[in-house]
Amino acid sequence: MTQSYPKVTVVGAGNVGASTALLLLLKNIANVVMIDVAEGVAKGKALDLMHMRSNELFGPSIIGTSDYLDTANSNLVVITAGLPRKPGMTREDLIDINASIVRSVLEAALPVSPEACYLIVTNPLDVLTNMAAQLVDLPPARLIGMGGVLDTSRFVYAIARETGASPSEIDALVIGAHGEAMVPLPSLATVRGEPLLELVDEAALDRIVEATVQGGAEIVRLLETGSAFYAPASSNVKMIEAILGDTGAVYSSCARLQGEYGISDVSLCVPAALGKSGVLKIEELKLSENELLQLQASAQSVKEQVSRIKND
Ligand code: NAI
Ligand code: 2OP
Repeated sequence: MTQSYPKVTVVGAGNVGASTALLLLLKNIANVVMIDVAEGVAKGKALDLMHMRSNELFGPSIIGTSDYLDTANSNLVVITAGLPRKPGMTREDLIDINASIVRSVLEAALPVSPEACYLIVTNPLDVLTNMAAQLVDLPPARLIGMGGVLDTSRFVYAIARETGASPSEIDALVIGAHGEAMVPLPSLATVRGEPLLELVDEAALDRIVEATVQGGAEIVRLLETGSAFYAPASSNVKMIEAILGDTGAVYSSCARLQGEYGISDVSLCVPAALGKSGVLKIEELKLSENELLQLQASAQSVKEQVSRIKND
């Protein structure tokens, strides 16, 4: 009997989009429609991935297209279309151009997939997730951004390097805006159940936080022509797996806050349980006063950037 899979549209067949598609197929998560303004790129990469199926024997399939009709009735749409940053650029430098791309994508995708969850990845993802919330008539739970899972993956890596533990032994979280103002939470991090703060000295902790916050910029500097994509793709897929599988797994997700952490009317990365209807529940952690102030500052900064987006 042939198995049926959920349908995921990946908008943008670039580094992040194609790597996301690859993982969705290899992990047997979903049939994929990959759409790009560069039709040949979407079609060519999809064909390449279907050739790979002969070796890897994954179940789902992929098509490439530039026609939104092919994306109709998706269960989830992940938006990676847009420019990545170049050396010397911040994620915020991308706002106006990527805002106009994400706006056009939503206008085309939403009418044909009105029941889907939308996962915004294009940077600056928190600003664009908030812009999208103002633009489209979607339940807030179904409009989510990916940033905190990636930042958390970098935090865990840095902790693993300093302590010699394996990532599976580490429990840690980064919340807040996906940028210099992100909020790693060392006070809540544990290694094999032991508080991180009892295992490392201040200098090591500073190195861990620095590596977490600067991890993306370091990759931009090394690549010279674009930004990270393997860990971002795997972060997307972690969230997609939780949503489509209705698992209720809790990940740092850009989700709409309505009073949680003393913040309202803004989407920001906070721990959120994910399932079929998107964000099932936001978890309120007990933050230190300083962490809470940092999170609230993140919210204020994102709000200000959204208000400055040009509407052309
Ligand atoms: P890329 O340049 O490799 O791919 C972008 C793709 O978007 C290109 O194929 C381009 O043709 C396509 N595109 C442009 N306009 C489009 C439109 N209107 N409709 C459909 N496709 C369109 O860039 P990459 O590395 O894949 O990054 C994509 C975005 O994801 C960037 O904005 C980057 O900053 C962001 N990003 C966000 C992360 C996060 O944690 N939220 C992590 C990594 C990247
Ligand atoms: C990163 O953090 C570019 O946002 C992306 O690598």
